[in-house]
Amino acid sequence: MKAGTAKATAPRTRLGKGPKERMSDNKETFYITTPIYYVNDVPHIGHAYTTVAADVLARYKRLKGYKVLFLTGTDEHGQKVEKAAETAGVKPLEFADSVVVRFKELWVKLNISNDDFIRTTEERHKKAVTHLWEEVKKKGDIFLGEYEDWYCTPCENFLTETQLKDGKCPDCGRFVEKLKEPSYFFKLSKYGEPLLKYIEEHPSFIEPQNRRNEIVSFLRDGLRDLSVSRATFSWGIPVPNDPKHVMYVWFDALTNYLTATGYPDNARNEFWPADLHIIGKDIMRFHAVYWPAFLMSAGLPLPGKVFAHGWWTVDGAKMSKSKGNVVDPVKVIDEFGVDPFRYFLLREVPFGLDGDFSIKALIGRINSDLANDLGNLLSRSISMIEKYRGGVVPEGDGSKDRPELESKVKGLLEALPIAFDSRIDELNFYDALNKVWAVVREMNGFVDKSAPWKEKDDKTLSNILYTLAEGLRILAVYIYPFMPASAQKVWDGLGVEGDISNRSFDDEVRFGKGKAGKHIKKLPPLFPRIQ
Ligand code: MSP
Repeated sequence: MKAGTAKATAPRTRLGKGPKERMSDNKETFYITTPIYYVNDVPHIGHAYTTVAADVLARYKRLKGYKVLFLTGTDEHGQKVEKAAETAGVKPLEFADSVVVRFKELWVKLNISNDDFIRTTEERHKKAVTHLWEEVKKKGDIFLGEYEDWYCTPCENFLTETQLKDGKCPDCGRFVEKLKEPSYFFKLSKYGEPLLKYIEEHPSFIEPQNRRNEIVSFLRDGLRDLSVSRATFSWGIPVPNDPKHVMYVWFDALTNYLTATGYPDNARNEFWPADLHIIGKDIMRFHAVYWPAFLMSAGLPLPGKVFAHGWWTVDGAKMSKSKGNVVDPVKVIDEFGVDPFRYFLLREVPFGLDGDFSIKALIGRINSDLANDLGNLLSRSISMIEKYRGGVVPEGDGSKDRPELESKVKGLLEALPIAFDSRIDELNFYDALNKVWAVVREMNGFVDKSAPWKEKDDKTLSNILYTLAEGLRILAVYIYPFMPASAQKVWDGLGVEGDISNRSFDDEVRFGKGKAGKHIKKLPPLFPRIQ
């Protein structure tokens, strides 16, 4: 692992490392992670949300020519998982083995393109965590003491009396327990000032801004040293040279991001520091305070960005097992298809804000944006190419002599890369999709206004049809990160050879790259309307 200090490179204005920094195979690297999910419970829409968002970025960055490492996985140690296994009457690892399958199957079903899947019970991870512990210890940042205060097991979080709300956990509202046990502590208090300075010098380290403000005020209140071991249960990674203790599950879990880079060896160290940790707002403090403090202590560079998204409610209510309203992504996908679900998650709510999931809203999106706008544009374009040109895309160039028609469509497509790239780099999926759909709608309007069915001039008609085929070919490239299978179907329908996933984004979004002469294929409707 590269030696380094927590001293940063220049503030990042976009996602990814600086030009030509940390290159391998002549490619810039991009390392993106999701949280690793607890195996005490089966996957739900919240897990799907983060993972789909990360997948969109991973797919986009690959098309942009980056060498991507996209990591997800499972968090398998700790008291919460131990208790869940006990309730199920099995050993924790056996329990984890069965739940992990559910996560892995869901990621296949959701078309998630992760490059690695980490389980914290793997040997490689134990090795990494043990090494990190030793590094931090060598620095003099770990000492033995006694923890006497509160603990929230659902959040796996230590709490003080004053943090409790009506005697319960201020974050999840559940019961807390009083602990009194010997514990190793990490000198977190030492890192308050350095962290504040780092955040000030790197304004895009924590996003969105409201979350950064929360972290800054938390830091300004002063930090207590952090208990990083537990001695009253055993389901965890043993503390080196003192196996009566297991490491605190968050010390263990956060290190997964390093493990996947081969830490402490050099296997994949070109990927560290990670470019982006996507997480939910509830686990901000662990990622934006504890994690960078551990890294600073070990002398390792900090991740580029920690971005916290909002939470989904369901039909206006908090999702919970007791209410029985937990959304099972498998059921939604089986009923409505994987791509509409992926699209909905990122189009319905600006990333960073809370949102509400309902089947009604999902159907609304499918019928308006997907069936009416995109699906309709594709099917009418293909039908017209078939009817007027025998199924072969004619010659055209999106000519400039009709400013409200072909040339307007061409102009919008030519302006789209800059607008789209900047939105994606800001994780503003919502607006990125809005920009793409503005072109989809403009193209539907173009069909109506140019009325190919009335057009007498052969060259003009060819140009209209070429503009539609070319516009759709390009739109598919923008849509690909969000709805990979559907985007590929658009290409297949238009007779474009090859896989979008192997192409270069910048090349493929150029108007005129698509050539005439391709044979279109009539396909079933891409997004059937839902009654
Ligand atoms: N194991 C820890 C993460 C360790 S990362 C080093 C954990 N796991 S979790 O399974 O409880 O939660 C994983 C993610 O799911 C969190 O980012 C959380 O915000 C997210 N969500 C859980 N419920 C959610 C919603 N209702 N809506 C959106 N995301 C939600 O925390």
